[in-house]
Amino acid sequence: MKHILVTGFTGNVGHEVALHLKQRQAPLRCAVRDVEKARHAHGSEFEYVRLDFQHPETFESALAGIDRVFLMYPPETAFEPFHMFIRKAKEMGVRHIVYLSVKDVQYIPFIPHHKNERAIRRSGIPYTFLRAGYFMQNLNLFLLDELREQDRIYVPAGKGKTSFVDVRDVAEIGARALTEGERHVGCKHVLTGDQAMDFFEVAQLMTKILGRPIHYANPSAKEFKTYLLAKGLPEDYLNVVIGLHLVTKIGFAKGITNKYRTLTGSDPIRLEQYLRDYKHYWEKS
Ligand SMILES: NC(=O)c1ccc[n+]([C@@H]2O[C@H](COP(=O)([O-])OP(=O)(O)OC[C@H]3O[C@@H](n4cnc5c(N)ncnc54)[C@H](OP(=O)(O)O)[C@@H]3O)[C@@H](O)[C@H]2O)c1
Repeated sequence: MKHILVTGFTGNVGHEVALHLKQRQAPLRCAVRDVEKARHAHGSEFEYVRLDFQHPETFESALAGIDRVFLMYPPETAFEPFHMFIRKAKEMGVRHIVYLSVKDVQYIPFIPHHKNERAIRRSGIPYTFLRAGYFMQNLNLFLLDELREQDRIYVPAGKGKTSFVDVRDVAEIGARALTEGERHVGCKHVLTGDQAMDFFEVAQLMTKILGRPIHYANPSAKEFKTYLLAKGLPEDYLNVVIGLHLVTKIGFAKGITNKYRTLTGSDPIRLEQYLRDYKHYWEKS
């Protein structure tokens, strides 16, 4: 029986996709850069295979016996080997790629997903694009240190509203797309929660749920970049982050869709629920 390859298994969305696939008893293989480390962290109930997008010599063994792929793009990866992986998948008979992309990608040519979606379309492999809104989980990952140490949300998004989505919902749709067959092929699922909020409102909600004042610092793009460059974050990465928040600032990120509800019949997770579920992340030790 052919398997589903889940890339980014040790990350945010890939891990949740693997859990959903397991629940659905789908045959899956988890692609990781370090098999031993993954087995140590996640146990042996998952099957692992080595895959490093920067090392094309890992592609053939990772794709052996695979007919569907959950594909995510690690932001620091070079295009050429990543696109080689897509071509290799075609050569080895992959018949469906579910690709984790970004909402409004068609209007944002400077982000890698624009080129990656095109590479997937050109490969001829049937695809589903998960065009996801702003992850709620950014608050417990990328934004965590500032929240824990300074009680502030530090992003250059102005007063713009953004359509938050919980990665657990994105992953559920990914797992459905990989296991429900034709229904999702050729689809570009734009995935958001059912509320658009600005970061002042998010700070208010966090204040209520965490029981201590949280504020939104609302730095300019220049302040944001200077501050995080000094903390050692790479400039290329910061430019993409600033660009994405600029999209929010000018009001282009506020659109919400009912795609999750249409595909599942249930309501998407709300920010308030996410904050309650992840509350322990922001507690001070
Ligand atoms: N944040 C948002 O709001 C948002 C919204 C929409 C879309 N997205 C997109 O979602 C994607 C990120 O997904 P995520 O948050 O689930 O990822 P993540 O938590 O940042 O995890 C990154 C994953 O990539 C793996 N990885 C890194 N370099 C690799 C390489 N060279 N070869 C193979 N695997 C490698 C990592 O594995 P190791 O354990 O080996 O490091 C890890 O599993 C990005 O493409 C981003 O643009 C983000």
